[in-house]
Amino acid sequence: MARTRTAILISGRGSNMAALIKAAADPAYPAEIALVLSNRPAAGGLAVAQNAGLTTAVIDHAAFGNDREAFERAIDARLIERRIDLVCLAGFMRLLTPWFVARWEGRMLNIHPSLLPSFKGLDTHARALAAGVKIHGATVHLVSVDMDGGPIIAQGALPVLPNDSAETLARRVLAVEHRIYPTALRRFASGQNCVSGADEVIDAESNSDRMLVSPAS
Ligand code: GRF
Repeated sequence: MARTRTAILISGRGSNMAALIKAAADPAYPAEIALVLSNRPAAGGLAVAQNAGLTTAVIDHAAFGNDREAFERAIDARLIERRIDLVCLAGFMRLLTPWFVARWEGRMLNIHPSLLPSFKGLDTHARALAAGVKIHGATVHLVSVDMDGGPIIAQGALPVLPNDSAETLARRVLAVEHRIYPTALRRFASGQNCVSGADEVIDAESNSDRMLVSPAS
């Protein structure tokens, strides 16, 4: 079966992108990475993608001034040119217009570093600590016009530890992200209905009821 031609959109170091590239290196994986596109020429992830032999593109938002739709039309044209079926946002730090979201609706995933719908937006780890949550994590979801509000595909959770700082928490959550994004893309690209119902719990290690409890006792 043809693999789903997937584009990854990045703005920075691209560690989630790298996790997706690694997963897709397996010919049995249902998605292939047909394009890595950055809005920042200096994004570290570009070199990682090039070293993996992938096609990369830079569409610098700065060149478009305030014309966000022109910027997005340029991205869209590149996606079409590469015959992309599915877009994965992976640390892509531009807000998308309703036009672009509508164009890729149902075909665009994002990873967000919190257990949505908690902590939409930025600085999620500091805000989770300030709120005193005991369990935190990451979410892969479909992108909708409602920022960080689209249907949830996968989540991974971990306990917040007593001495956690935003940095230590970010590091552990990032490992969760690298685990759930390849899984979510595999399931989505293979046409499994990942949106309705929670049919699989990822490694809830604590007990036979597959609960994740923090503190454990
Ligand atoms: C990740 O924490 C992701 O959840 C958020 O931006 C960060 C990107 O990191 N959307 P990386 O570029 O994938 O390393």
